[in-house]
Amino acid sequence: MGSKVIVIFIILLVLAISVYGTNNDGSFSRQKILEVERKLQHLRKHSLKTIQSEDGDTIDCIDINKQPAFDHPALKDHKIQMAPSYTSAKKGTTEVTKTRSKTNVKLTSQQVWRKSGSCPKGTIPVRRIRKRELLKAHSIDEYGRKKPSILNRKVSDKLNQNVDSFVQQQNHSKAIVFAYGFRYVGGKGDIRVAYPFVEKDDEYSTAQVSLINGSYDYYELVESGWAVNPSVYGDRNTRLFVYWTADGSHRTGCFDLTCPGFIQTNSEIALGATIYPIPIPGGLPYQITIYIQKDEMTNNWWVQYGEEKTNIGYWPSELFMGMRSNAESVEWGGEVYSTAVGHTPHTKTQMGSGFYGSWGYPVAASILGMRVHDNYPMWKIPEWVDKFSDEYNCYNVEYIADYVDDPLFYYGGPGRNIRCP
Ligand SMILES: *[C@@H]1O[C@H](CO)[C@@H](O)[C@H](O)[C@H]1NC(C)=O
Ligand SMILES: *[C@@H]1O[C@H](CO)[C@@H](O)[C@H](O)[C@H]1NC(C)=O
Repeated sequence: MGSKVIVIFIILLVLAISVYGTNNDGSFSRQKILEVERKLQHLRKHSLKTIQSEDGDTIDCIDINKQPAFDHPALKDHKIQMAPSYTSAKKGTTEVTKTRSKTNVKLTSQQVWRKSGSCPKGTIPVRRIRKRELLKAHSIDEYGRKKPSILNRKVSDKLNQNVDSFVQQQNHSKAIVFAYGFRYVGGKGDIRVAYPFVEKDDEYSTAQVSLINGSYDYYELVESGWAVNPSVYGDRNTRLFVYWTADGSHRTGCFDLTCPGFIQTNSEIALGATIYPIPIPGGLPYQITIYIQKDEMTNNWWVQYGEEKTNIGYWPSELFMGMRSNAESVEWGGEVYSTAVGHTPHTKTQMGSGFYGSWGYPVAASILGMRVHDNYPMWKIPEWVDKFSDEYNCYNVEYIADYVDDPLFYYGGPGRNIRCP
């Protein structure tokens, strides 16, 4: 009898360890280590060249036709598209806005790893996932994915000036402007690069342009911008990212190429790579210009970088349902994830530059040059935008559209302080 109980106990213990992946002393189970090794080996299999970047990143140059996306079951027969079909249709992409004032100096940021080499033709640079971050992830499947959107149905409190606070997502705090009311097939923004402090390793702070379809807790989304995300990247550098989900991040989607999904065509830009140079206080601001646009011929969602619209790659239409036709809204702004938002003590993780959006120029983080693409055949300044912030006292927004040629948007905040205890 006694030995049976012990056997059952041991079986349960083994099961528990394999489910949670960590042993009692915090070390990782043999099974998880093996699983992680297998995944990393698989990803490295098609590497034709390896570049060691001075910021600690390793870049694998992977055969473009063997990139991670093609491990996705829906993409087995997908034929890679090398450029969006709309680039040849020049009329459709001409911008209808006035040139901006000369004082608005723009500098495009670059990537650190390019100092150490480049990827040969026919390959794409893929930032190598580090073993440590993959081991620390709750599961290999969840690595690289944002925490799911789950609604907190709390009654709108009076302190929070935002009437929409009752639809706040658990542990997510956003400060955004969004355009809605049309069928969107494109969104664009010039996102100033910032270096927010992120308090804990499982928290993140991002700034992005997003196209969204669906409800608050279940939606399809594609987005791109910069992120400080230690649990994915292993440090607190500001990095260029793309992200997608087809279900509010419950089971699908991820950053960059960390899961099968996004198809990259560019051989010079590494997703998830550190952005440099780091601006000096009072120096010129750096920015990343992001265009996201659906190709009407293929229904793939393309991402282009910089004013010159360099193709990075695309999310194939196979990943989505509603977004095969269009998105319901375009969003610009910042997001903080922490289990310490929405209550006291609040996280000290900053959004944007760490200054309130309402402080405006020059200290607050900003997104300029916001454009949308709907059924009108050109990029245009969004006509209908709304502001939103989950925690007005922690992170807020300022949108200036009157008496300016081009709307200005400031967002962000310091997280915990006297106003946000
Ligand atoms: C996406 O939008 C379409 C309409 O454009 C709608 O029919 C569909 O249900 C939406 N998808 C989701 C996931 O809500
Ligand atoms: C939010 O944080 C709590 C811990 O405070 C955690 O139990 C919960 O799973 C988190 N929810 C999400 C969606 O991340």
